[in-house]
Amino acid sequence: MTDQAKLESAGETARETVTGDNNPGTSPERTPDTAAVDNHEQSNPATTTGILGPQHWAQIAEENPFDDNDADSALGDDAASSTASITSTILNYRTIHGRTYHSDRGNAQYWASNDGPQNEAMDIIHHSLTLSTDGKLHLAPLKKDIKNAIDIGTGTGIWAIDFADEYPNTTVIGTDISPIQPSWVPPNLTFEIEDCTMPWTFRPETADYIHMRWLVGSVADWTALFKEAYKTLEPGGYLESCEASCYMESDDGTVDEKSAMNQWGKFFVEGGIKLGRTFLVVEEGVQRQAMEEAGFVDIEEWNFKNPIGGWSKDPKLKEMGRYVQAALEQDIEGRVLFMASVMVGWSKEELQVYAAQLRREMRSGKKHAYYRQKAVWGRKPE
Ligand SMILES: C[S@@+](CC[C@H](N)C(=O)[O-])C[C@H]1O[C@@H](n2cnc3c(N)ncnc32)[C@H](O)[C@@H]1O
Repeated sequence: MTDQAKLESAGETARETVTGDNNPGTSPERTPDTAAVDNHEQSNPATTTGILGPQHWAQIAEENPFDDNDADSALGDDAASSTASITSTILNYRTIHGRTYHSDRGNAQYWASNDGPQNEAMDIIHHSLTLSTDGKLHLAPLKKDIKNAIDIGTGTGIWAIDFADEYPNTTVIGTDISPIQPSWVPPNLTFEIEDCTMPWTFRPETADYIHMRWLVGSVADWTALFKEAYKTLEPGGYLESCEASCYMESDDGTVDEKSAMNQWGKFFVEGGIKLGRTFLVVEEGVQRQAMEEAGFVDIEEWNFKNPIGGWSKDPKLKEMGRYVQAALEQDIEGRVLFMASVMVGWSKEELQVYAAQLRREMRSGKKHAYYRQKAVWGRKPE
């Protein structure tokens, strides 16, 4: 193995930027039922998470006709725009209500669309996430001379591109099940199509750093996933996992139980139960537990409440929230369509009525909503 970096011991202190207890949420029994994914005809299957029916949103729309014209732009003056143009005919994607999804491949079941609007939304989220860490692309204490890094589930590759720019002497590989990455990338970065829930094809003990972000709802066995990372890392190498909660919450009760914001997470938790891929990764402390089980040491974590919408008085949180709102408004459908239609049986029209109410709540500034995110990193012992 070449020039194994002797990494400093993890010295970062876990930071909690906005205080408050992690919502333990409900911990429903997981009943894997991947057959439900293939049954696109399924209508209104029973839910276990208390999702309000589509008629609830239709009634609200009737009582309060929507007027989206008075909505503020969600972006600040320094609006980031990702112009990565994404074209691919490599795979025959699955299509649901006109939106494309990854083709069936290996074990993979991914719930968000892989087309342009959804990918642009993810790039906007990247900007908001990077603001939350004050520009840091990782929290694990990496040395500048690391040789090999891997980004699992790289998506549009936006994190991997930034990382490859910041570490020009590091060979970076981004993997995904969808070939949605741009071809114009830093010379030290390549992309590979690989299902991370299958045994990995990387040679053991070759990576100094493995990064995973926002794989929530895609992974049935996090310990198995982290064991693959453990195998692939050199002794002393770091694994970092950054995940988000699907719940929109508030500390002051403004996100009330009957709000569209409150309902949002329930689609995902319900869908995750049916897919056998939990969305309660943050709430249930899955990352830390799976890292411990895989053999990592010096595990540290960082918890953060990321605002949704520009309601915060703090300028940085306000900007972050506006980007999150912009990302959601960019493509509410592509994010929730699969869960609401395939998993819960809603029609596209029913979903549009719900989405309009969600937009309205985000734009009102009256709901002080946030979602939780958690980064956890650990070291493979020497
Ligand atoms: C929400 S996106 C996050 C993308 C990227 N990590 C980021 O933070 O910008 C999740 C990505 O994981 C990919 N994914 C889902 N299941 C996967 C699997 N089994 N193997 C590899 N990639 C997967 C999806 O195709 C999608 O691009």
